[in-house]
Amino acid sequence: MQLSQIAAILAFTASAVAQNAQIAKRDPPRNGGDCNKAGWNGCYNPVGLADAMMQRGREFVGFALTIRNDSAELSVQSNTYEEDFNSVTPENDMKWEVTEPQRNVFNFNGSDKIVQFATSRGYEIHCHNLVWHSQLPPWIAAGNFSNATLISIMENHIKNLAGRYADVCTRWDVVNEALNEDGTYRSSPWFNTIGEAFLPIAFKFAAQYSPKSKLYYNDYNLEYNGNKTVGAKRIVDLIKSYGVRIDGVGLQAHLTTEPTPSSGGGVTPSQDTLETVLKGFTKKGVSVVYTELDERLVVPATKAKLEIQKQTFKTVAASCLAVKGCVGITLWGVSDKYSWIPGVFAGEGAALVWDENFQKKPAYYGMLEGIQKG
Ligand code: XIL
Repeated sequence: MQLSQIAAILAFTASAVAQNAQIAKRDPPRNGGDCNKAGWNGCYNPVGLADAMMQRGREFVGFALTIRNDSAELSVQSNTYEEDFNSVTPENDMKWEVTEPQRNVFNFNGSDKIVQFATSRGYEIHCHNLVWHSQLPPWIAAGNFSNATLISIMENHIKNLAGRYADVCTRWDVVNEALNEDGTYRSSPWFNTIGEAFLPIAFKFAAQYSPKSKLYYNDYNLEYNGNKTVGAKRIVDLIKSYGVRIDGVGLQAHLTTEPTPSSGGGVTPSQDTLETVLKGFTKKGVSVVYTELDERLVVPATKAKLEIQKQTFKTVAASCLAVKGCVGITLWGVSDKYSWIPGVFAGEGAALVWDENFQKKPAYYGMLEGIQKG
């Protein structure tokens, strides 16, 4: 045997050992995978998004879950190919209009199914959400309730919903989207009747009825370090000033890969800006999560756009990994086939990391790289 051959064998063995050290804890492929397939770690599945996140010492990668009868979607959601996920957020099934459509009449059919889906797979649940102005049943606004009655309605809702899932909700979005773009409070039955105290009151009830869950304030457009970001920091201070617990801020991260009509020319902020925003919250002693990540663009998606999208997903993931208090990332769905974007922003879409045929897009690899190297 020639010297160069021996050297090559030694180098190969060393890299195999290094790889094995990294993946030692992982299971063999459960889909009967081909051990020799390119990109596979010997007889192991490739490293997935959640794997990578855990290897970096963070907590989770999740997706917004709506249960459908689609086996291709289910395969991705169930980590059939690699460990991409260890968390879900119910996309709609825990919202007020679904869970308490009439006063004190509760419906937990959908939310129980979400919990079953998650717990049977060993996933965490990021529960969403308790108090919001949207997807609120009409009886709340129509009731013209007094301050005291509305607070008791809020307590009853949180007691029944958060109380039911107290053992399974790792995190709760307690209040969702309380702010206008300029950082002032948004008009809603909650704010209009109770005033800003509705925020600490909601968090107090959530802490009381779901004491083990981490409690989050969740909003969109906090990523730009503008007036709305300042408003969210004010909310953290407000809740704490009441002596009430708040554990985290969720940045929804409904972002754009390129300027789109709905983004007003805006694009995903630089990694620097994102890190500044995240640190602005963690300095206050709360964790941060990207709770609803997607990166829309003007459809159709071209190869060039998908390459830029790969970078924007990488930027967002890397910004999380650069800030210690950023514990996880949830994608607002898995496949472009079912994303909420085309239904809300006409002419825009292709915002997720699996395409309509459940093939991984460049964005998947951008996100993975951002997690691994960011
Ligand atoms: C969206 C869902 O994805 C849609 O299916 C539904 O029709 C509307 O709500 N901010 C949030 C999420 O906090 O609950 C929203 O989800 C997206 C924006």
